[in-house]
Amino acid sequence: MTTYGSFPAARPRRLRRSAVMRRMVAETRLHPADLILPAFVKEGLTAPVEIASMPGVYQHTRDTLRKAAAEAVAAGVSGIMLYGVPEEDKKDANGSAGTDPDGILQVALRDVRAEVGDDLIVMSDLCLDEFTDHGHCGVLDEHGRVDNDATLERYAEMARVQADAGAHVVGPSGMMDGQIGVIRAALDQADHEDVAILAYTAKYSSAFYGPFREAVASSLKGDRKTYQQDPANVRESLRELALDLEEGADMVMVKPAGPYLDILARVADSTDVPVAAYQISGEYAMIEAAAQRGWIDRDRAIAEALLGIKRAGANMILTYWATEVARQL
Ligand code: PBG
Repeated sequence: MTTYGSFPAARPRRLRRSAVMRRMVAETRLHPADLILPAFVKEGLTAPVEIASMPGVYQHTRDTLRKAAAEAVAAGVSGIMLYGVPEEDKKDANGSAGTDPDGILQVALRDVRAEVGDDLIVMSDLCLDEFTDHGHCGVLDEHGRVDNDATLERYAEMARVQADAGAHVVGPSGMMDGQIGVIRAALDQADHEDVAILAYTAKYSSAFYGPFREAVASSLKGDRKTYQQDPANVRESLRELALDLEEGADMVMVKPAGPYLDILARVADSTDVPVAAYQISGEYAMIEAAAQRGWIDRDRAIAEALLGIKRAGANMILTYWATEVARQL
């Protein structure tokens, strides 16, 4: 590139000179349709309870969950991911409430489908951790270890009851080996071949899940390092991706999002199925907390964090800000 004396011929700043110019040349845009709202519903509540570490996010009653779903539709959000929180005395070693047709998650799925019909993609977390008294994502063997294959049988049943209750999409988040294949087979055998699987393909064992554990009143002591991935690894995610696709995943997810944008970019480059990223509870809490202290511009920080996730390769983003952000777009 030529220069004239000491002056540059190439001036990238020309394309930054006004808001309209910047808008025209923007390479990435957020759209309400990119967004999916994760939502919590707790059994037996008479009023919604705000989650202390996630200001603005609630454990919903059945009623307020329906309202939140209707608001998401009105804002143009594409989907909702439901988490059920059972009454404490309904938890047991097998997570039985997770497969009870009248368990809170199934009740909530029917409620939300009755409210939104097919105007919102209704998704359900397919995992046992909210329902087990030990808080793990699977059932335990006699040594107290998470038993992979025994857990798969529970997941198969969970997939059937969630689909029966009206889930359009199930989201297996337990990181058991073979979970996608077993769930696909269970759905197909139960005449639910239309129900899609959003696989938590790369799910890392993360400190940033902290506030979520409060949100679902988790009973977990210890950690999930024997099934969730080690934050040190990248190639492992590509292996998980290959397995999930082989087993029949319709869409894949990377989680958390912000601290794992490199993983997201690699996964997005390596597949032709839609890729989701989950901006998790800790990512939400950090921005809200800093904003409350006046240390950060809340709205700009949210927009920038979401744009970064989209730019890294996400087609869809699960975010607790989904409805609010969709309204602003
Ligand atoms: C497991 C599950 C977790 C999250 C979603 N599904 C928690 C975990 O793995 O410990 C975390 C979501 C968030 O932190 O926002 N059912």
